[in-house]
Amino acid sequence: MGVFKIKLFLDTANVDEIREAASLGVISGVTTNPSLIAKEGRNFTDVVKEITSIVDGPVSAEVISTDAEGMIKEAEELAQIHPNVVIKIPMIGEGLKAVKVLEEKGVRTNVTLVFSANQALLAALAGASFVSPFVGRLDDAGHDGMQVVADIVDIFDFYGYETEVIAASIRHPLHCIQAAQAGAHIATVPYKVLQKMIKHPFTDVGLQRFLDDWKKVKQS
Ligand code: E4P
Repeated sequence: MGVFKIKLFLDTANVDEIREAASLGVISGVTTNPSLIAKEGRNFTDVVKEITSIVDGPVSAEVISTDAEGMIKEAEELAQIHPNVVIKIPMIGEGLKAVKVLEEKGVRTNVTLVFSANQALLAALAGASFVSPFVGRLDDAGHDGMQVVADIVDIFDFYGYETEVIAASIRHPLHCIQAAQAGAHIATVPYKVLQKMIKHPFTDVGLQRFLDDWKKVKQS
């Protein structure tokens, strides 16, 4: 049995969504990526800074260099924005080199674009604080994305790695249940999925019935 509780991060760079989700009291971090940042049409640093002012937890910001030296340089600049900024590093050889250097300097990393347990193991060996297996994209390719999450959790548990597993590329509420069952430390969810997790038709019908019946209660 795990000794931690699963956390929910929001997978978006939209500050309105982040503000709304944060006010629910269930979000403890945010993940972004270059595609999510591009969708907002805003300055990268400004967005990351604003997100750190809304959520008091890890905020992942991704580098776009593909060589270790470039990644480290970008990471050091991003880390200046706020102590909660975590540097997202792609799971390539140069990325592993960058992870090792950055973690030794006290800059936390989130190894992204992870599609196998072997990649996650390498990220943990390099000292990454987080790894992000992409469940939905694996499912899209005909694989069992959540099984990869479960395998990573088992391996990390067995050896006592402190690297936290972020179930990423979450597409629907069932993915969240499965991530929790697999023992993922974190599920990072798009805003739309969070909304779907809140909703249940029986809740809406039940609430309406209570409100309608309340109108029949004598008020004096
Ligand atoms: C994770 O950190 C990524 O930002 C994200 O989950 C990717 O999800 P997608 O496959 O829906 O783009």
